[in-house]
Amino acid sequence: MSQLNQRHILVAISGGIAAYKGAELVRLLKKQGAVVRVVLSRGATEFITPLTLQALSGEPTHTELLDEAAEAGMGHIELARWADLMIIAPATADVLARLAQGRADDLLTTVALATPAPVAVAPAMNQQMWSHAATQENVQLLASRNIQIIGPDAGEQACGDVGPGRLLEPDGIVAALNQRFENRQLEGKRVIITAGPTLEAIDPVRYLSNHSSGKMGYALAGACAAAGAQVALISGPVQLAPPDRVSMHPVTSAEEMCAAALSLAEGADLFIGAAAVADYRPESPASTKLKKQSGGPLTLTLVENPDIIAQVTQLPNRPALVAGFAAETTSVLVHAREKRVRKGLDMIIANDVADPQTTFGSEQNAVHLITEAGERSLPLASKRVIAEQIISALAAQLPH
Ligand code: PMT
Repeated sequence: MSQLNQRHILVAISGGIAAYKGAELVRLLKKQGAVVRVVLSRGATEFITPLTLQALSGEPTHTELLDEAAEAGMGHIELARWADLMIIAPATADVLARLAQGRADDLLTTVALATPAPVAVAPAMNQQMWSHAATQENVQLLASRNIQIIGPDAGEQACGDVGPGRLLEPDGIVAALNQRFENRQLEGKRVIITAGPTLEAIDPVRYLSNHSSGKMGYALAGACAAAGAQVALISGPVQLAPPDRVSMHPVTSAEEMCAAALSLAEGADLFIGAAAVADYRPESPASTKLKKQSGGPLTLTLVENPDIIAQVTQLPNRPALVAGFAAETTSVLVHAREKRVRKGLDMIIANDVADPQTTFGSEQNAVHLITEAGERSLPLASKRVIAEQIISALAAQLPH
């Protein structure tokens, strides 16, 4: 399974003859399940059009440092924060020199400076330019700053020379990026995850529910599978494709989710409750469509649903670790700490759903991990990266 699945990859293309291979790189990254945005240097637009990259990535292509369309006119900061990884391919000798100097004289170099995400470069240039002491010193300086250098390849060049400096083929770049994220910290572990909303029937055509999209739970399932776990995902109704190598258990109501969870969680290594389970359901759903009451209010009697995660912690052979989320709109940490203790959880992940950046359906999240031993905040990042950080924290607590 691809380590790039669901990751936000920012592809920056600089102005060399190999720029056309950027299109293939974007296509392959998309095939791996990555969400791809593209930055083109002004030189690159001489070799490949923004429209091509836009069609392949399915996202607008960015070329200008000052972007009137961006929120607050600071497109470079938005892109820098959005990225989980930035890959500059091809990276010309000029771009390597500007990166080494820390210059910010166009969108590409500015984003590279502004991003907290890891940066990789795939150099491509004439063999003489690659071998020049200035380029080699720049590359060493960049490597010493933890910038990943991918390639270059050697062979026949567009200018007719033969030697090192060819852009590594796009599939080689994708393989190197995949390897960078390789992590087998849940190898052989059995993980059960709940995700999405539950739907509680009022009658055959109406229900009570909530806004959970399933993105957080699916990101956790994808990250656990990529880390080597055997994953069962119990999902309420959502509009998402099942993650690779995950066994799916679709359910509709809280009672169905509870039955699936209790039968799967026995003896598991890890249980993560990311689902937004309805706390109540209509006591007696009507068997036929309810008719509009003329004039008067309609009264529904609600009864409490089982607390799934609390029941999982009471199983005779309970999972080694049980983690839940606390979706809160006020006094987030206070409520989350109380819930962790009340439900008997090893970890609770406090999620402020009053903030539009970290709420139901958002692409990103920022959470606070609470265990008996301590607390720690995970700053805003894609749900995939947040998922990986959560499972790293949990994996560190799992018995070996
Ligand atoms: O799906 P997304 O759009 O990506 O949004 C992600 C999310 C906001 C849904 C997710 O990050 C989140 O916070 N999930 C938990 C939502 C929730 O229902 O929180 P809660 O505070 O009501 O429940 C606390 C914990 O108990 C949760 O782990 C929940 O799964 C579990 N629970 C709750 C009620 C119940 N009857 N049974 C349960 O197991």
